Amino acid sequence: MSHIPVLLKEVVDKLRPKAGETVLDATAGRGGHAKVLGEQLGPSGHLILLDADQASLSKAHQNVSSLACRVTAIRGNFRRVNSLLDETGVKQVNVALFDLGFSSDQLTESGRGFSFLTEEPLLMTLADLPEEGLTAYEVVNEWCGDELERIFRDYGEERHAKVITQAIIIARREAPIATTRQLAELIRQVVPRGYANARLHPATRTFQALRIAVNSELEALAEGMTGIWAKLVPGGRLGVISFHSLEAKIVKTYFKSLVASDEGELLTKHALKPEYAEVKQNPRARSAQLRVIAKKLILKL
Ligand SMILES: C[S@@+](CC[C@H](N)C(=O)[O-])C[C@H]1O[C@@H](n2cnc3c(N)ncnc32)[C@H](O)[C@@H]1O
Repeated sequence: MSHIPVLLKEVVDKLRPKAGETVLDATAGRGGHAKVLGEQLGPSGHLILLDADQASLSKAHQNVSSLACRVTAIRGNFRRVNSLLDETGVKQVNVALFDLGFSSDQLTESGRGFSFLTEEPLLMTLADLPEEGLTAYEVVNEWCGDELERIFRDYGEERHAKVITQAIIIARREAPIATTRQLAELIRQVVPRGYANARLHPATRTFQALRIAVNSELEALAEGMTGIWAKLVPGGRLGVISFHSLEAKIVKTYFKSLVASDEGELLTKHALKPEYAEVKQNPRARSAQLRVIAKKLILKL
């Protein structure tokens, strides 16, 4: 399945990349957004692709190979964006985009345990990068009940966090829970029947929670935005596409703080959401929200 870039027109309209500028796509993915942003840069521009996942980064790189601008691909976690750019010799950027989460084929085809539809080991990490050692296997089999319940409730917004936690604790006394299907089936068996038959698979929220915890997604987002803000030129634009309320809250709060300190100016008064036609074509866009902020030209000292 190919990955369709979400809110593409809105991203280009608000980030307004211009000839000769430097654009960072901090979540290059399949390079869908990057290609269209890069088309505006011309031969004197510079497009930087960043992704934690090597397979995605290679695909993105290939997808932008026909562009006239210079292209640099960096594999790494965007929580270290500032030092990754330093290591590459990039001092400033005009435009940065974060399109959070994972692309659909990455979730279904990576073999890394993001999907409960196939039998996969419980990894849920993108990375064989050294700084990200944690796996979902460790979380599920080693974390105490209170911590498990907290992440299922807070990160998954799972109202059956308690029973799911109890089921995990009992099951893992017998043998470790090793695969996605094993975990998904365990969850399906303990949640109320109506919940198990609902449109959403009953394991969806638990899997989201585990993914967020394993990859420290919320901390990475906060650190990534702060890191790139320091690298933005005055007048530079930062855009973030979020997919659930926890991410949206972090972006909203950070952007608000930049407005309050008179460093930033919101280019999206309210988050932009996809129109009906886009959601119909790409259901993944359903919960997408785009927020864009510009760095003020003259900073008050
Ligand atoms: C939704 S996809 C981006 C799709 C892309 N905008 C496109 O049009 O093809 C998100 C990408 O971000 C990457 N990613 C997720 N968390 C990351 C992190 N902390 N650091 C770097 N890349 C990350 C994933 O590997 C994935 O490729």
